[in-house]
Amino acid sequence: MSTIYDCSVIELPRIHSLSGNITPVYGGEHVPFDIARVYYLYDVPGGETRGGHAHKNLQQLIVAASGSFDVLLDDGINRKVVNLNRPYYGLYLPRLIWREILNFSSGGICLVLASEVYDEADYYRTYDEFVRDARALRGKV
Ligand code: TYD
Repeated sequence: MSTIYDCSVIELPRIHSLSGNITPVYGGEHVPFDIARVYYLYDVPGGETRGGHAHKNLQQLIVAASGSFDVLLDDGINRKVVNLNRPYYGLYLPRLIWREILNFSSGGICLVLASEVYDEADYYRTYDEFVRDARALRGKV
């Protein structure tokens, strides 16, 4: 399977007990950025796809806090799909990665830790515009 530029699955800490588990996440320690914002996607109807954009500067860690879903990653050159299905794994996305989030299980919750507050100007909403800048950054034309 192809490697997508600098994306990686990070194993997060697990504090296990018979009454349930805890996963703490610290910015700058478990993720390579300071956490400025947390948001989560939930009540996603079956068959729906979220995402469909990239970011100019934002870095993120995507976690399946409940249930499962697939994340399609595209760095402008290669594509791959990562399935997330455990709350103690996070998928790290650097800047300039096109992503689509799909195949949500019933009750699936997509938790996102983000390096910046929301800023619409940070989005690539058009795939062609993203590919042009991603290939320029990564040395392919
Ligand atoms: P968007 O990031 O496009 O959602 P997704 O990637 O899940 O498909 O955001 C959808 C809408 O929600 C858009 O109008 C912007 C708004 N929004 C905020 O206001 N704040 C946020 O932190 C996020 C993530 C989205």
